[in-house]
Amino acid sequence: MTDFSNQPAVIQIDGLNHYFGSGDSKTQALFDNALNVRPGEIVIMTGPSGSGKTTLLTLIGTLRTVQDGSLKVLGEELNGISQQGLTEIRKKIGFIFQAHNLFGSLTAYQNVRMATELAGLKNSVVKPKIEQMLTRLGLGERIHYKPKSLSGGQKQRVAIARGLIHNPRIVLADEPTAALDEESGREAVTLLREMADREGCTVLIVTHDNRILDFADRIINMVAGKITNDSDVKQTEKICAFLQATEIFAELTPRTLTDVANNVEVRNYAANETIVRQGDEGREFFVLADGNVAIVRTNPATGQDETINQLAEGSHFGEVALIKDQPRNATVVATKPTTCYVLDREEFRSVIDTSDSFESELRKAMFERI
Ligand SMILES: Nc1ncnc2c1ncn2[C@@H]1O[C@H](COP(=O)(O)OP(=O)(O)OP(=O)(O)O)[C@@H](O)[C@H]1O
Ligand SMILES: [Mg+2]
Repeated sequence: MTDFSNQPAVIQIDGLNHYFGSGDSKTQALFDNALNVRPGEIVIMTGPSGSGKTTLLTLIGTLRTVQDGSLKVLGEELNGISQQGLTEIRKKIGFIFQAHNLFGSLTAYQNVRMATELAGLKNSVVKPKIEQMLTRLGLGERIHYKPKSLSGGQKQRVAIARGLIHNPRIVLADEPTAALDEESGREAVTLLREMADREGCTVLIVTHDNRILDFADRIINMVAGKITNDSDVKQTEKICAFLQATEIFAELTPRTLTDVANNVEVRNYAANETIVRQGDEGREFFVLADGNVAIVRTNPATGQDETINQLAEGSHFGEVALIKDQPRNATVVATKPTTCYVLDREEFRSVIDTSDSFESELRKAMFERI
């Protein structure tokens, strides 16, 4: 499998606003959005009805004109782009939209073939590919049926084939699996996963379908016109698994744990680097994910620094200053390259508020702590 992760982002959004209507009826639908999506990434977007998901998707897909802010697709700035530039980009995008807009007078096969004609692909090349894809999506028997003889789910699968057949660089899908049964929904997303892994195709899916969340590399959440939460699913899962294995986080509910995992900052320290300094204000709480640290305190009698403890993976530190609102009572130094999960004060307090077990485990551990 090729690693596409170090290649430049294919979707780059910065300060993106969007408005509908004009004059007194002008309303803002998107507010100051930012997003970067890399090649080969599958991103799922969720959010309440009316929050702006389709608006964002159609802007990325060049189906709407960018009004304000920066939106780059495949390296091209769409704000102010020429008509010809738009046409070029559109060829490289595959659309799978809710209302499938199939042509009633054309068969399933012909509807899919239209997409390849727009992309300038030869018939002899695409015929086996179209048949293969429709068969894979469970439409082998219905290749030459017209939409009126197909069920809603079957029509949706024709629309999926049409959106993917020309090997687009980006696939934009709005509720692609909503009308599908479990099995065809899975087959459709498996197809997307393969295109992402094999060809670096980038996939952005708007969905409320919980059954497909585990296909995503990232889940983003849109609320009232703004992307509010952008989480790396694999990273979050890894952090959750780690935290759950530690004593203090073990009893948290999966929801709180995921919240914590989404809010920690992963920070790396070199050997001998100071993480916390005695006397400083305490602003953060640390969980040692990897490495080792020494707790060092200055002996007031001698003025000498003394190592009073060593902590290894799975330990935590930094809570005393946060809970007691006191300056740091010791210095913490990485003794080898070390990774910490860092929670800021507000986040730390909100976990304490939501979990009695977390607070009681912390209090148990607070004796002789920093
Ligand atoms: N063509 C339009 N003219 C005016 N307002 C619009 C238009 N399209 C969308 N809006 C408004 O913009 C906001 C965002 O709409 P959008 O369709 O992007 O939401 P959505 O998140 O896709 O919702 P849903 O989950 O219901 O599909 C809504 O308040 C909607 O009423
Ligand atoms: Mg929508």
